[in-house]
Amino acid sequence: MHKIKENIFWVGSIDWDLRNFHGYDTPSGSTYNSYLILDEKPTLIDAVKSYGSQEMITRIKEIIDPAKIQYIVSNHTEMDHSGAIDELLKYCPNAQIVCSPKGEEGLKRHFKKNWKFKVVQTGDVLDIGKRKLKFFLMPMVHWPDSMATYLESDAILFSNDAFGQHYASSERYVDEVGLDIAIAEATKYYANIVLPFGAQVLKVLDVIKDLKIETICPSHGLIWRKPDDIKKIVASYQKWALYQSDKKVLIVYDTMWHSTEMMAKYLFTALDKEGISVKLMNLQTAHISDVVTDIMLSQMILLGTPMLNNHMLPSMASLMMYMKGLKPKNRYGFTFGSYGWSTVGFKELESSCQEAGLELISDGNYIKFIPDAEELKSLDKTVSLIKNKLNV
Ligand code: FEO
Repeated sequence: MHKIKENIFWVGSIDWDLRNFHGYDTPSGSTYNSYLILDEKPTLIDAVKSYGSQEMITRIKEIIDPAKIQYIVSNHTEMDHSGAIDELLKYCPNAQIVCSPKGEEGLKRHFKKNWKFKVVQTGDVLDIGKRKLKFFLMPMVHWPDSMATYLESDAILFSNDAFGQHYASSERYVDEVGLDIAIAEATKYYANIVLPFGAQVLKVLDVIKDLKIETICPSHGLIWRKPDDIKKIVASYQKWALYQSDKKVLIVYDTMWHSTEMMAKYLFTALDKEGISVKLMNLQTAHISDVVTDIMLSQMILLGTPMLNNHMLPSMASLMMYMKGLKPKNRYGFTFGSYGWSTVGFKELESSCQEAGLELISDGNYIKFIPDAEELKSLDKTVSLIKNKLNV
């Protein structure tokens, strides 16, 4: 039994085996966090994925008869939090589903059931006995229906996906596992799920800055309860929402016969010699969900690919498509690569960079077949340009 505070319990499910979350590589698994508040009207905050329903119901039964649940707060329609509601309602058929207007619309579209809905707006308060729940709609963090639930009496923010991490563990708190691990997972989570919605995140941060918050209970991963840890994750969200990054260079490439690799490694060595923080990622070994995490942390992104049938390699095309959706802002880009007989496909790479929001620092550098020493030296002017752009 995981007690969060007096009469408040974690009753979620742990997904040790999750390795892919709609394309996001999740080597550490995940949790779907559900919280039970015992009061005159027992209330569940969020449910879990459908296949975690019995784990959640078993945890609830250790505390109360599920039939006593009066309210199920659905902060977010996505199936990792709503999938188990249908099964849970078999145990508490009179429970009302508390959700945003878009939540009601989404849940009806997902489940085609005539559940009892209680639709709430920002600022609405739900009296559950000694406690009162207050709701804050947070549209597009990260779906139109998303909202957060605040429990003022206990200074808890149930933030749903915001501040979450895909991390499976028996520990429930950030401070039990380590802040570095939690921040690393929260960084990857933000880059892959929340990145397009900086403006909306800033609005949420503006609302919660006036709340007394001692505990942030997200719907995935570890709970934030130490004041310094809460400060750190809120400050990180502020930085990411403003699309700020560090003076770092990320070189991402794929290669056919090692020519583009030679260019990537030449750039790496030259930048490293200049004392610039630079990281090399090969798309044959790095997952695009890790690449976009480093893109979020870096101000300068260098992208290299050879040509295959007049197009960039499929691995680079996959990254570019992913980036177009995530739209990193305030970042510079540079393109390079090797070709055999036509450079036409590099135009596609350049326009993809621009569509993804990168500001190209110059024309790309494209070398026919295998670069010789002199051709590699032509990349030195790019290194100088990067130094100037980063002001290092
Ligand atoms: Fe964790 Fe957007 O669902």
